[in-house]
Amino acid sequence: MKSIDINLETEQQLFFHNYGRLPLNIEYGKGSFLYTSDGTGYLDMIAGIGVNAIGYGDQRLLDAITGQAGKYIHISNLFMQEPQFRLAARLLDISGLSKVFFCNSGTEAIEAAIKLARKFAAQNGNIEKREVLSLSNCFHGRTYGAMSLTAKPKYVDGYEPLVPHVGMIDFNDIEDLERKVSDRTAAVFVEFVQGEGGIHRVSKAFVTRLKELADQLGFLIIADEIQAGCGRTGTFFSYAQFDVQPDLVCLAKPLGGGLPLGAIIGTEKVAQVFTPGSHGTTFGGNPVACAAGLAMIDAIYADGLMEKAVEVGTMIREGFEKLATKHAQILEIRQYGLMIGITVDKEAKFYVEQALEKRILINATSMNVIRLLPPLSIDKSEAQLCIDTLDEIFSKENQ
Ligand SMILES: Cc1ncc(COP(=O)(O)O)c(C=O)c1O
Repeated sequence: MKSIDINLETEQQLFFHNYGRLPLNIEYGKGSFLYTSDGTGYLDMIAGIGVNAIGYGDQRLLDAITGQAGKYIHISNLFMQEPQFRLAARLLDISGLSKVFFCNSGTEAIEAAIKLARKFAAQNGNIEKREVLSLSNCFHGRTYGAMSLTAKPKYVDGYEPLVPHVGMIDFNDIEDLERKVSDRTAAVFVEFVQGEGGIHRVSKAFVTRLKELADQLGFLIIADEIQAGCGRTGTFFSYAQFDVQPDLVCLAKPLGGGLPLGAIIGTEKVAQVFTPGSHGTTFGGNPVACAAGLAMIDAIYADGLMEKAVEVGTMIREGFEKLATKHAQILEIRQYGLMIGITVDKEAKFYVEQALEKRILINATSMNVIRLLPPLSIDKSEAQLCIDTLDEIFSKENQ
């Protein structure tokens, strides 16, 4: 077979041009680092876009994957599959909710939640209750329903018409919330900490009013925990830091330990809407992904990674706050566990490129926000390396 060059030129020849990939051919990962074939190590402060919660090469995760793959990789949801049962029981135990549906990705979890919310209203005799709302600046995914709830024009432009009866409430704006919800509202989707939107947390006052209105008008509160969930903000679910119990919770990203897996978790009241055949998927709840997810969750608890996320996250924030006193390029720092956004005075892409040269992998979102989503297992010395490297980059710019 002809050899193939793994570089950006070949990438342009082979693929649709919808990704802006970094020019790195990664050979393997270990801990918080990714390595290229010549052995160069890159500190990974983005962890597969918030997926690799326990870093690379964790033996417990590898054992879970190979153990299950040796038994069967796929048999479908025509059968009972032990890894699914175990992971579902664990998620219910953590959440206090009643039922789980597994799918393959975040956007599929959102789709399932939209469908369920509308069917729930219809089953309760209110066929007029079709409206599904989200918050400005949010991101919920790329399929039609999820995209229709997503704020950024660049993800939506040209794909219209969107799914009908959707709308957006201004982020943290209680008056707008009161204006927008009505007895036609079936559900409001909330990222308690917005990820793609630049790391912004919803306010307690907004959540309190949302809860009151949900009770009054009978709409569902649906938590999108796809990026903020699985321990990243210091509690397993980011909504746990608010006085609210969502009717449905959407999970994905780290849930499959790096393999594709999504889930919705719901109360008994909403879960009964799905009856045999009313929703489904061939691959959803893949047993290898479920076994991996369970090993990942066990590792998060066994290693105290939620506590560590708070500790190391705080250290990173304090480090950058110190840098902000000497570098005018840093405008604002927002940190919730290991979900960190640093607003800078120019396109954050510039710093992604500079950091890459110094072998640190960071991410840009919302134009001028540096986003850090490192593995929850990251050490303080590794976090310090990231702070020091950005210090160098900001200093060099000022010379
Ligand atoms: C908050 C949130 N919701 C939904 C999604 C979509 O998930 P996926 O890319 O797995 O479809 C993402 C992905 O970044 C996300 O961050």
